Order: sequence, then structure tokens, then C-alpha cells
Amino acid sequence: MNNNKEALRKKDLFIVRDIAKKISGIHLNENKSYSANLKISRILKDFNFENINDYLKIIESNEGKYKKEEIISALTTNVTSFFRENHHFDYLLRLLCHDFHAEIMRDENIRIWSSACSSGEEAYSAAMTVAEALSECHLKKIKILGTDIDAEMIRRAKGGVYSKNNIPKNLSEKFDKFCIFFESKFSFLQYINDLVLFRNLNIIDEWPFQSKFHAIFCRNVTIYFDKKTTDILWRRLTSRLHIKGEIYIGHSERITNFEELGLRPIGISAYKKVV
Ligand SMILES: C[S@@+](CC[C@H](N)C(=O)[O-])C[C@H]1O[C@@H](n2cnc3c(N)ncnc32)[C@H](O)[C@@H]1O
Repeated sequence: MNNNKEALRKKDLFIVRDIAKKISGIHLNENKSYSANLKISRILKDFNFENINDYLKIIESNEGKYKKEEIISALTTNVTSFFRENHHFDYLLRLLCHDFHAEIMRDENIRIWSSACSSGEEAYSAAMTVAEALSECHLKKIKILGTDIDAEMIRRAKGGVYSKNNIPKNLSEKFDKFCIFFESKFSFLQYINDLVLFRNLNIIDEWPFQSKFHAIFCRNVTIYFDKKTTDILWRRLTSRLHIKGEIYIGHSERITNFEELGLRPIGISAYKKVV
């Protein structure tokens, strides 16, 4: 009996791994398959499915979208924070105040993409950085797009309400300037909200926009992809950067073929498009 249970669990792990790869590009190792499987088991129980195959049938049927959302939520790891890897926001400031200063003075649109934004902290950190650097009239031309595969995270990002505990201790003055506080929570002033737009998007699918960006954050997401998926993603993202634009990646991520992609390293896990 125990052996059967064990065999079933192993089989389910492979199924979970295949689904993860198919719907999100996420490459689960043994440990992560196991934790995703635990979460999925909980979903199966909540929705009274007998086994994972019944669940898969629902996901693959037309009305399965809602369930697919849940399986994606179970697979993803959404850890994030405001001003995480703070140096990138210093680079963004330099990018706007020096490299794209002339474009901003000419009132051109400036686009920033937080491409796996989780619950929105990365995009709002970029918005506060921009708001600190530019006058109100120039802010009208700044657009910050936040996207994530996890619909629940995008709902939270759009809601824009966070716990005060999420404010980094050394940055409370900055938040005082840009936020409204109530009870143990806070949200952003309207002109900060106006800078950001959130959409649900799987980064390995087709992108429903043609625009190029001046800065792209793609941090702590390729750690879940295999090498082939990651290499294709770096190439696609780079092709959407303006010359002089910058891409910021997670501290344990690397773009090994940066020269071939026309990138130059400019600091800690950051690259500038030079060709
Ligand atoms: C660890 S969080 C990183 C959040 C943020 N970039 C940061 O560094 O703080 C990884 C995020 O990537 C998202 N993600 C995973 N696979 C994705 C995909 N294929 N397309 C878009 N987002 C994805 C997850 O939903 C999760 O919110």
C-alpha cells in the first residue's frame, strides 16, 4: 500500500513538472516539484477532485481558465520587496537624469517594464524613483508596465495596498512623501498610481505590444527557467531595449552572451544596450 502511494506520488510529481513547463516555462527541480505538488494537492482537496488527472481535464477544457490561474499561483514563488537590490534603482536614476535626459526634455515617452513584477513592489519602487527625479510635467510621459504570470499577484499590484511592515526601515522618509497611511497599511498617492499599469502576462508567450523600453527589470524569474528558455528570453528582451537602455536582472542570474546581444555590463547584474 505504501509502495503504491509512493509510486502515485512520484507519477504526480512528473505530471506537475510537465504542467509547470507547459503553462509557465517554469522548470521545477525535485524539491520544487514536491512543494508545488503539496500546494496542488491542497487545491485538489478544496475543489473535491479525486486525482490530478480529473483536475487536468478541467484545466484543458475551455472553462478551465480559472483553475489554470490557481495552478499557476501554486507553482510560482512570489517573494519580492520594495527597493529589493537597491542599486538597480540608483542605476535607473542615473539612466533618467543623464543618459535619457535629452529625450525627457524633448517630452518623449519613457517606458520602463517590470516584467515579472509579482505583487507590484518593483514597479512602485521604479515609480517612486522616477517621481523623485523628475518634475510633474515630465512625469506625464513616463509609463511603467508591470506584468506577471500570476493573476492573483496582478490583482494585488492593481489594488496597490501594502502593509506598513513592508517599508524598508531606512527608506521611511521616501514613503512618507509618496504614500497615504491608514491603520497598519498604506497606498500610493494618485500621481504615483498614474505612472504604473499592471497586466497579466506569461513572459515566455508572445507579447501583445510592439514598443521598446528604456529600462527592463527581469529579476529573479529566469532562476525558474531552463537554459534554453532563459537564453531565448534574454535575446527577446534585449531586442525590445532602446539603444542606451538598460536591463536589470537578479543577483544570481547572468547573461553570459552579453556581447553577442549588444550589451555591456554596467554594474551589479545590470547591462546597457550599446549596439
Ligand atoms: C521571485 S518573484 C520576483 C519578483 C521581482 N521581480 C523581484 O525580483 O522582487 C518571481 C516572479 O516571477 C513570476 N513568474 C514566474 N514565471 C513567469 C512567467 N513565465 N511569466 C511571467 N512571470 C513569471 C512569478 O509569478 C513571481 O511573481
